[in-house]
Amino acid sequence: MIELKPISILDEEMVECMHLSVTEEQYDFVAPNSVSLAEAYDINKKAAENSEGSRVNPYAVYKNGEMFGLVMIAYVYPDNNVGFEAYYDEPYYYLMRIFVDKEFQGKGLGKEVLRLAMEKVKSKYLGDANWCFSSYVPENTASKRTFASYGFAEDGRVIDEESVCKIGI
Ligand SMILES: CC(C)(COP(=O)(O)OP(=O)(O)OC[C@H]1O[C@@H](n2cnc3c(N)ncnc32)[C@H](O)[C@@H]1OP(=O)(O)O)[C@@H](O)C(=O)NCCC(=O)NCCS
Repeated sequence: MIELKPISILDEEMVECMHLSVTEEQYDFVAPNSVSLAEAYDINKKAAENSEGSRVNPYAVYKNGEMFGLVMIAYVYPDNNVGFEAYYDEPYYYLMRIFVDKEFQGKGLGKEVLRLAMEKVKSKYLGDANWCFSSYVPENTASKRTFASYGFAEDGRVIDEESVCKIGI
């Protein structure tokens, strides 16, 4: 059974999450989970201070109780001042991170994590929106295929050296 459980840098599960890793070739594709969780904490802290509606929810991902990944779902206001790009001129969802430990890759788990994250996104649990975006380094074939297999389409833009993809929700 695959499960998503909320996680933050302040939780004791953070240490386990921090030790998940990707292959050396993937180091340029994704930040270490410690950095991702710190980033999420910082964004949410700034958002709370600014009474700003944007936020990011990180989830640790488990298979039969064993943690193997991280996924981060953001809800973004285009005029935010917490550091998100304005991919769209209305609030939108953004899959900010999807990470499967190298020992668990290539077994269909990335697609399952994306499916579970998109169930949450489609319920619009953080606010209303019509689009969900994500982005990846253009050379990141695994990521590109994972998003394409769910139905994400190339947006055509490259922002911060990452190809943007999107899906209507
Ligand atoms: C992207 C990632 C989450 C995919 O997870 P995964 O469990 O390995 O993926 P799956 O086994 O579910 O496969 C998903 C698709 O990617 C393809 N794929 C998986 N590993 C691949 C690889 N090394 N090279 C090329 N394609 C690959 C699969 O064939 C499948 O595509 P298909 O449906 O067209 O056949 C995982 O590779 C990862 O964590 N990468 C490092 C972190 C990262 O780059 N995250 C994205 C940016 S935030």
